[in-house]
Amino acid sequence: RTAGLLTGRRVLVTSGPTFEALDPVRFLGNRSSGRQGHAIAAALAAAGAETTLVTGPVARPDPAGVTTLHVESAEEMLSACREALPVEVAVCAAAVSDWRPAQVAEQKLKKGSAAAPDIALVPNPDILAELAQPGPHRPRLVIGFAAETEKLVEHARAKLAKKGCDWILANDVSPATGTFGGDETTIHLIDATASESWTRMRKQAVAERLVQRIGRFFSGPPMS
Ligand code: C5P
Repeated sequence: RTAGLLTGRRVLVTSGPTFEALDPVRFLGNRSSGRQGHAIAAALAAAGAETTLVTGPVARPDPAGVTTLHVESAEEMLSACREALPVEVAVCAAAVSDWRPAQVAEQKLKKGSAAAPDIALVPNPDILAELAQPGPHRPRLVIGFAAETEKLVEHARAKLAKKGCDWILANDVSPATGTFGGDETTIHLIDATASESWTRMRKQAVAERLVQRIGRFFSGPPMS
């Protein structure tokens, strides 16, 4: 149903976790599987978009028909995204580590007789907010995700304003929904003025639905 919908449109997707090095063998990371971001990249490519996927370390094959760039850290993810510009649409589905160690030890930290090391952290760049900055290369549509357990629309809209993006896909992750770790999710698509609630569906279906909404953004009436 989406074949040819986005033919020739350049799009960028981020996916997966980031790994922030502590020393040559250790890192700070998170458990993102990359399932949603990879499904979105695959669905965009299937709709004819020229798709670049910037992904952190995941145990998942590169999607067919997608230019996939592999990175580890948030800083690497940001520079790979910048190199992929200009694009018309950016979808930030990566679970970027909010902090990284202030210093990366050149040698493996040893557990000697000394006390355990204190690890100072510094904040990472916010890739979604960076891509949404006004400027000549700003994509026409910048889309982010939010995981919320309550006051979903209100919190998501605050995030939209803070990050400067156009749409937020808010995931209802309250324990009753069983979203964490599962393949199904309940999404609310939010822009500055309107919101739509999607029925609970698989992440693959979320990807296809999002592609349809993006197609409508370019061809159809506005959401609100
Ligand atoms: O601020 P929070 O992590 O809740 O925002 C989630 C959204 O922001 C996701 O779309 C995520 O990909 C993006 N993000 C980012 N860079 C960060 C943190 C979050 O692109 N450093």
